[in-house]
Order: sequence, then C-alpha cells, then structure tokens
Amino acid sequence: MKGLILSGGEGTRLRPLTYSQQKQLIPVANKPVLFYGIEGLIEAGIKDIGIIVGPNKEQVENAVNNAKFNATFKFIYQDAPRGLAHAVKIAKKFIGDESFVMYLGDNILMQSLNDFVNGFEESDESARILLCPVDDPSRYGVAKVNEKGEVIKLVEKPKEFISNLGLIGVYAFKNKIFDACDAIKPSWRNELEITDAIQWLINNKFKVPARITNGWWKDTGKAEDMIDANRLILDSLKEQNLGNVENTKIEGRVFIDRDSKISNSTVRGPVIIGKNCEIENSYIGPYTSIGNFCKLNNTEIENSIVLDKAEISEVRKIYDSLIGKEVKIFKKQTIPKGKKFVVGDRSILEI
Ligand code: DAU
Repeated sequence: MKGLILSGGEGTRLRPLTYSQQKQLIPVANKPVLFYGIEGLIEAGIKDIGIIVGPNKEQVENAVNNAKFNATFKFIYQDAPRGLAHAVKIAKKFIGDESFVMYLGDNILMQSLNDFVNGFEESDESARILLCPVDDPSRYGVAKVNEKGEVIKLVEKPKEFISNLGLIGVYAFKNKIFDACDAIKPSWRNELEITDAIQWLINNKFKVPARITNGWWKDTGKAEDMIDANRLILDSLKEQNLGNVENTKIEGRVFIDRDSKISNSTVRGPVIIGKNCEIENSYIGPYTSIGNFCKLNNTEIENSIVLDKAEISEVRKIYDSLIGKEVKIFKKQTIPKGKKFVVGDRSILEI
C-alpha cells in the first residue's frame, strides 16, 4: 500500500505567512503541519509516499529530505491547484497497481491511521473514507451514510444541510478511483473534486464505506485553526529541559530545546521553546510555541505561535497570535511616541 500526501495549493487564507512559505510547512508545536501526516502514514506501515507539490516545490522537498524520515518519497509536481482529484490523476504512474491512502497535507489528525487502513487492501471496497461530526458542515465536504455504514451521497461545501459528517482529509482508494477521476468534470470552483469522483464510484455501484471518528482533527487552513491545533498538540507535550534556565519559574509541562537561555522569567506550560532562543524578563503562558532563534525581552505572551527568528521586546500582552518568521515587534523609545509600522501585505494588527 502506498501513501499520497497533498502539499500543493496556494494557502491564500494564511497570507501573509504563505507569501514566503508553503502553508503545510508552517510549524504547529514546532513541527511542520505536513510532518504530522507523514508520521501518521509511516506509523501505519506506509513507507512509499508520493507528495504532491506546487510552485514552492523545493521548499517542501528540502524540508522532507532534511527530516530523514524512515520512508521513501516521490515528489509529484502540480502546476496549479486544480483539485484533489486532479492530484490523484497526476499520481497514477507513482501509484501503479497498488491501493493507497491519500492524506491532505494541511490536516492534523491525532488518532492513529492503523484502524482506518487495516483490512482495506484485502477487502472488496473501492474506497474508504474517514468522517467526523463537524459544527460547520458548509466549510467541508460532507457525506450521508446509510445504516450499514455505506456512503450514499457526498457534497463539497454544501450550501444546504445534508449531513454533519465532514470528510477529514484521509481516504483509502483502489485503482478504480483513476477511472472515476477521468470521468468527472470540474466543479463550480473549477476544481476536479474528489467528492465527485467518490460519488461516481457510488453511482456505479462500487462499495464505499465510511469510518467515523470522534477523535480530534484540524484543517489548519486559517490562523485560528493553527492556534487551536497548537493548543491540542501541546496538551500531550512531554516535558524536558535541554536549555539553560536561570532564576526562572517553570510551571507545568514545558519543553525547552538545546542552547536556549531563559532568565528572570516565568514559563507556565504547556509551552514548547525551540533551539537557541534568548528569553529574558518575560512571561510565556500556556499553549505557546516559540520557534528557533527567537528573542523575547520584557514581554508577556500566551496561546500563541511564534516562528523562527522572531524578536519581541516590551510588549504586554500578546495572546491568540501567530507571529511569522523574522518578525520584529518592539516598543519605540524615541519621540514622537505612537505606533510605527512596516507591515507586509495582508497582515492583521489589533491594537
Ligand atoms: O479539510 C478537509 C476538507 O479538505 C474536506 O472536507 C473537503 O472535502 C476537501 O475538498 C478539502 O477541502 P479544502 O477546501 O480544505 O481543500 P484545500 O484546497 O485546503 O486543499 C486540501 C489540501 O490539498 C491542502 O494541503 C492543499 C492540497 N491541494 C489542494 C488542491 C485543491 C493540492 O495539493 N492540490 C490541489 O489541487
């Protein structure tokens, strides 16, 4: 069985962060979102993995290759986000005759994939999908399931309610899916939709059962979702201190990576702090992830994600925030007092 992870797309809802970085590489709890999917597949025994990449392909390839996973990767280039079923079509040569698990690279799923994958290859099923009850079905693809657990109808981003069972971005397919993807036409948003391809299988009497999970998962398409996912992952953080901590109160579960210096501060977990950070006279509150090479001075922050090389000085108090790489936030020392900004396109500042 092979794996196919989708890491193309443009990430428009995560601008400005995605101007410089592919959205699936933005870290949550100091690990790129994409790596959660890769690890999930490897843990389920799937080690031959294709990754769909878009225009930022070198970034994704370098990040994955440098991480030295125990798996082999084939990067498959998609020139534009033409839809999930289009991604399947261009992966046909890589998949060959095998069955495969497709995983959307911006989703994080905490449960193991083992139960979902078990028995699929030997079964007479053409596809198997994973569903979860969602509060806002219009944001997702949804599926209606009969009393035997078989999918009878799927709709992408439904305008009218048909079901609260959302597709959570993990699918298992046999080869018939390629015929389905060839048979469908682009949708109103001009994408080849995987929901339409699965509906084609159902209409043509192929077996498509659903598995329903109540475990948590997150589509990290928006900043709020990333902060939520960060919170959920930090909930199971293991504490460790590899850094250099002086005159600092550490409460709860805190992970401090090597060569980070923390002094005269309070760190209240769960908190993860990356490598080579310098933190002084600050408060780092629950559910905060600080990347590598960050500097914080006289600052209070909680429930936030700070990416690599950001520098924050004399800001009280930052919360529910996503702060990009190499961002500098500090208090102006000279007159006139007031606020001075050099802010990238589509940034959001609440002051
Ligand atoms: O998050 C779950 C939802 O994901 C499902 O409920 C929907 O049925 C499914 O269509 C999908 O909806 P989204 O609108 O969230 O899809 P998005 O455009 O964000 O793409 C999902 C991932 O696939 C993302 O990592 C980007 C990648 N992708 C997307 C497209 C359209 C590609 O690699 N190529 C593509 O052509």
